[in-house]
Amino acid sequence: MSAFAEDAATLDDEATSRLVDRLATQGFAVADGLLPPALVAGLLSELHGLEQAGLLSGAGVGRDAGLRRDGDIRRAAIRWFDGGTAAERAFLALADGLKTAINRRLFLGLFDFECNFIAYPVGGFYGRHLDSLAGAKNRVVSLVAYLDPDWSAEDGGFLRVWSAPDDHGAPAEAIQPMAGRIVLMLSEEIPHEVLPAHRPRHAIAGWWRVNGSSANRLDPAR
Ligand code: OGA
Ligand code: MN
Repeated sequence: MSAFAEDAATLDDEATSRLVDRLATQGFAVADGLLPPALVAGLLSELHGLEQAGLLSGAGVGRDAGLRRDGDIRRAAIRWFDGGTAAERAFLALADGLKTAINRRLFLGLFDFECNFIAYPVGGFYGRHLDSLAGAKNRVVSLVAYLDPDWSAEDGGFLRVWSAPDDHGAPAEAIQPMAGRIVLMLSEEIPHEVLPAHRPRHAIAGWWRVNGSSANRLDPAR
């Protein structure tokens, strides 16, 4: 029995439509309180268990070994969801609800979803990147969910987002990775970066892809 029975996980309609509106107009959007706290805690304890069992990519092989798989752009370890636990299934069910809301508002034709746990060690970071290149028929909308309670500004690890690929000015926003907070971004449009974390930082990052050709999808009004 879990505290987050899959059918108990439903999205608040108003908060969801505010979030998706913001995604449409701004290219990214932040929401707190959409994920049930018990689910966030369950996902964090699952991720802690995976870390302790050495089941993250790059984890457990010496102190820093393997944590630099992407060269110098990222220092973090991941594990793909396999949908094998109630917490993962509840999260995937909520992601599915978000997909429906996004498709209704943005006509993106989002289809499948993939996601991974991501654990940053102390000093972990993720340099500025786009999750997908335009036209690559690839990831279209990104979802990040944060899991660490009591994250303070001094803990670092802010997610900085810019408003367009060619925007190299000051970031549009610096988002503190508070437990339960989620961020949506247009994967082809919004460069982002994770600043070095001063304590271990735990998140889920996921992406919706379109089904078939990207020519079938309408671009949002931007
Ligand atoms: C990613 C990513 C952001 C974060 O995994 O692609 O950008 O805040 N993660 O961890
Ligand atoms: Mn990213």
